[in-house]
Amino acid sequence: METKGKNGKVAGRGTIVTLEMKKRIRSLRHSANLSIECLADKATVSEKTLKKIENPKSKQKRFDDDTLIKIAKAFNMSLDSLQGKQNQVEQKSWAINFELLAEQFREIDRMLLPLIRDHKHANKSLIEHAYLGLLSQSLQERKIYIEQIDRGMRDSIKRNAFIGGLPKPGLVIEVSEDFEEISYNCNPDGILTVKSPQLLWDCHCDTPSTKQNDFKCPIHSHSLGEEVDRRFSTGYVLIRYQGIEFYWRSGQELWPPSIDSFYMIDAMEADGLFKKRYNSVLDIGSGTGFWGIMAASCNPYITEITLSDWLLTPYLYGTANWFLNRNNREHISFKTNTGLFTGGLDSLVKPHDIAICNPPYLPLLDGFDEIGLESTVAGTDLLTNVIMRSKTLANRTYLQFSNLSQPEAQVAQKKAGLKLRPIGKERLVPFRLRILWERSGYLNVLIKERGLIEKKNSRHRFWHKLQTYVIE
Ligand SMILES: C[S@@+](CC[C@H](N)C(=O)[O-])C[C@H]1O[C@@H](n2cnc3c(N)ncnc32)[C@H](O)[C@@H]1O
Repeated sequence: METKGKNGKVAGRGTIVTLEMKKRIRSLRHSANLSIECLADKATVSEKTLKKIENPKSKQKRFDDDTLIKIAKAFNMSLDSLQGKQNQVEQKSWAINFELLAEQFREIDRMLLPLIRDHKHANKSLIEHAYLGLLSQSLQERKIYIEQIDRGMRDSIKRNAFIGGLPKPGLVIEVSEDFEEISYNCNPDGILTVKSPQLLWDCHCDTPSTKQNDFKCPIHSHSLGEEVDRRFSTGYVLIRYQGIEFYWRSGQELWPPSIDSFYMIDAMEADGLFKKRYNSVLDIGSGTGFWGIMAASCNPYITEITLSDWLLTPYLYGTANWFLNRNNREHISFKTNTGLFTGGLDSLVKPHDIAICNPPYLPLLDGFDEIGLESTVAGTDLLTNVIMRSKTLANRTYLQFSNLSQPEAQVAQKKAGLKLRPIGKERLVPFRLRILWERSGYLNVLIKERGLIEKKNSRHRFWHKLQTYVIE
């Protein structure tokens, strides 16, 4: 007779990989943007074994512990977490558990993500209807109640337990105020510093061109490069900027505070965002909550902050990031809104003082429908929506976008009878989107029709221009 040990293991014969665990591994891999091949490489296990582990129909049920531990390590987690053991224990307690929610929300977001683009030709209200239905059904099935989490955040014991229980980040990224230097602290292995970075992740290694191989990658040419890469792409990361900290984890559902965010802050700061007597700030398409939290932390007059995004992962990270940075700013009322475009913000009693939005900017071009399905940065619909609704949302709206989506912005501003006034400098930044490297047809149209710049002799091959605007 078999004797089962701890964790469902049978002595000397490995661990049974349940269907749940298979799903978890696949979902972790997807959200880290890793192919089977890449994960096999990172975990140093064979592709064949990994395929079997993930395949729900595989006849092999039991796998070697060492292999599973290596896979868990590649995701910066323990075998227990990979098996969902810790979650089961924590689920029983009253505590609001970040990691458990993060996993559930990622699953739901992955179902929501294709929704807009799948229904490209459907009318807007139909899409909104489908979105709201899927969102509430998925939450109900999992017995997750957003109002309950929000209420928990108002209870100091639950809130402190939630913040205290945040997973330890595997990587701490310190961005200097002037964006002159980024250091990646890979404790206890050491620190990798990149001087004069051009991006938050200033690597060009995967650009599809042999010419770029002539240049040294500031990350991968360093002895810590591979380890920093592993931690950046698969684990929890803490990004520190001006003393404010943002949790982030790589995945399609969550955009990190990156070069566009730092440039936009510069432009808005010069425009008086941190000094003027603004009381309320609305962050639309909030991601990690970077704008709302920066504004509330740097402008002493802010008393109300609202983060709004259509996905649940941003809701969770935005909430965690606010309470992580709130300190003694208890007088600030914090709200979240989960809605498509600006849905859910319609019932405003009065417009916010400030709205800030850094929307996706990749145009959906005829003949390239798949781009919309594959990329979360695709689509200009949030951009045009914010322009059209700006006057009802806020007294002053800041918007940043790329020259690639200029035509859509022009049409929207004309339709709305408004003007987009540039503030701050126009910034030329590398355009680096891995999913586009195989899409030379799409890239060519961007070059010919949208002003994407190609520099064959530069470390980064493609470039675009970012500009912050105020809507008037
Ligand atoms: C480029 S990211 C910006 C994130 C964050 N504001 C920042 O600057 O770091 C765009 C954000 O808009 C959100 N978003 C995209 N399309 C949306 C839509 N139709 N409705 C609401 N939010 C949307 C995404 O989920 C994402 O968080």
